[in-house]
Amino acid sequence: MLETGAVEGLPELARESHGAFNSLAGVFQEVFGFPHMVPCTEGRAAERIWTKIHVTTGSMVPGNMLFPSTRYHIESNGGKVVDVISEQAYNLYSDDPFKGNVDMAKLEAAVRDAGPQNVPCVYVELCVNSCGGHPVFLKNLREVKTFLQRQGIPLFLDASRILENSYLIQQREEGYRNRSIHDIVRETCFVADGCTLSAMKDFLVRQGGFIGTRDDKSYQRAYILGFLDGTQLSSPQLAALEVTLRELTRLDRYTASRVEQVTGLWRQLADAGVPVLRPAGGHGVFVDTTRFLPGLTADAHRPEALAAYVYSISGVRLTPGPPLTPDQSARGIELLRVAVPAHRYSQAHMDDVARAFRLALSNKDRVQGLKKLEDSSRARFDPPLFTREPKGEKEQPAFSHMGQIFFKRAEELGSRPFLKLQRGSRLEEVSWMDFASMVRETILGLYALGLQKGGFERIREIPIGWKDPIHHSLRSAHAAKDHPFF
Ligand SMILES: Cc1ncc(COP(=O)(O)O)c(C=O)c1O
Repeated sequence: MLETGAVEGLPELARESHGAFNSLAGVFQEVFGFPHMVPCTEGRAAERIWTKIHVTTGSMVPGNMLFPSTRYHIESNGGKVVDVISEQAYNLYSDDPFKGNVDMAKLEAAVRDAGPQNVPCVYVELCVNSCGGHPVFLKNLREVKTFLQRQGIPLFLDASRILENSYLIQQREEGYRNRSIHDIVRETCFVADGCTLSAMKDFLVRQGGFIGTRDDKSYQRAYILGFLDGTQLSSPQLAALEVTLRELTRLDRYTASRVEQVTGLWRQLADAGVPVLRPAGGHGVFVDTTRFLPGLTADAHRPEALAAYVYSISGVRLTPGPPLTPDQSARGIELLRVAVPAHRYSQAHMDDVARAFRLALSNKDRVQGLKKLEDSSRARFDPPLFTREPKGEKEQPAFSHMGQIFFKRAEELGSRPFLKLQRGSRLEEVSWMDFASMVRETILGLYALGLQKGGFERIREIPIGWKDPIHHSLRSAHAAKDHPFF
């Protein structure tokens, strides 16, 4: 017999009769205030559709250091992105509370230079990823809107991080301390003409994104494009989004604890002397790798080198943040992003990350530079592959090869005495060879406790703060190959 549930669950073209769609549309309007929404598979799909509708060849879109996928979609429709973010966004250590703000003078100049007729929209990202997760003031959004209204230009938001942005407004902007997140979300959207957003960040779903708009014509086009593009969601996915939108935006504690977790990690790293961008952002902590690794030059790929080192000593995996904007590169900025997914990790995980960074900081001379592997078959947007700097003058001092040196030397010196051990009242001589086997046994003991060949992720099960020569001999021994570790 035909399972009717399966048929009803499929995406539909005729939305009027689609129960899950209409139900979600009601909640979306209640939460964000936009009368129309188009649910999509991801934020990227929403951006692709939305920019296809609004951005034309030769146009110019001012933005506040937009997320790379937004930038990509604007550019792929023939538009040019001009950064009009506040100057404070480039000052990594000032305590300005709203570094994601649009600089009004830059915006006005960009619109004047391009001509308002060539500016199809202004895009503002909330909690700007590229500069450290910094928020945008509501006051600033209103100023932007007032200016754009006079020019007849719509204001669109990348609202993927609207919850964190609303929390930071509540905490930092005058007059919002007693307002709920739900209120601030609505007030933020009220200023805008439309938005795109990924629901996979704050709304905890595995798939989902939205376009929100007040414009009926754009809505109709976006809906059909979503159908043609194949980016519609099934009924169960729509139903899941309805629940998370309704529940999470009403639960101030949810957003507060998410941002407080990030702030807690930020504080631990700042207190340890890790050069983190100030002030704390909404969704991650950003490390200034130029200051962290003064011994390496920019061509040693400091962010990736630090990420690789932290991973090798702790199993904590970090991703260098979004690619830098041209203005950031021109100012020599380099960042490693410690992104914290919402409500996935416990305090113990955060403590692990902080410990890994403290260890990396105290061993920063051991962080080895990386070299990019050129591979012409990889596309422009593929993440690059790296290898360690080849041996030679750029090689770090040999401490990381101490294990190898030790075992080699022990082999050469064989039965010659290495040290004396007290056994009861006797002093017993231990040869190089014997001492080397004691070290081997210790390593094998660790292996038996759970470390496996190649399984360095599991090193986090050993206290990270452990003095780590053993750790290094493990790695060098591993490289020597004639045993799981040696
Ligand atoms: C600010 C921002 N905008 C857009 C996107 C793209 O969203 P998605 O991953 O759902 O395509 C992301 C994803 O990380 C994001 O952080």
